[in-house]
Amino acid sequence: MFLVICLVLCITVSGYGQPHARASDLYYTDITAVTDETRYTTLNPDITLTEMNKVKHTKGNIVFTSGERTSGDRLIVNHYDDESFPTPKDIEVLMSYPAGASTGVTLTCIEVYVDQSADDAGGYLSKGGIGQTNVEILLTSNLTRSFVYETFIYGY
Ligand SMILES: *[C@@H]1O[C@H](CO)[C@@H](O)[C@H](O)[C@H]1NC(C)=O
Repeated sequence: MFLVICLVLCITVSGYGQPHARASDLYYTDITAVTDETRYTTLNPDITLTEMNKVKHTKGNIVFTSGERTSGDRLIVNHYDDESFPTPKDIEVLMSYPAGASTGVTLTCIEVYVDQSADDAGGYLSKGGIGQTNVEILLTSNLTRSFVYETFIYGY
């Protein structure tokens, strides 16, 4: 229940296309087809993934969140990407903030909206996170023909 309220608040407060949104401080990979040999977890066996909170809305429509909006925070990153494939693929996306040197921004809330042809997806933090000045986010989906996501990162 709390999560739902938080989500509604987050969505209401954030909206789309806010000014000052920029993805320039975000490193991200393409929506990349992977095999069991090239999965993040195969290539980085020592990294522990932390599952983000996950809310499924309708088929293939999932919202991943971590943390919550805090008074005084602001939108730091807004990033969108989409891809479709002629045949179903296992895919991954890796995002990392900041892309370069520390920006000194403490992260408060991370939201990733996913829409895809597959039913399920994974959203994980692999490094950093809420209350820290860096984060690495991994998105995964198996046997999907399409994958669309939009990421919002807030901080102060
Ligand atoms: C995708 O498949 C891999 C390998 O079988 C599995 O570890 C992972 O949990 C699956 N991901 C999702 C989102 O179902």
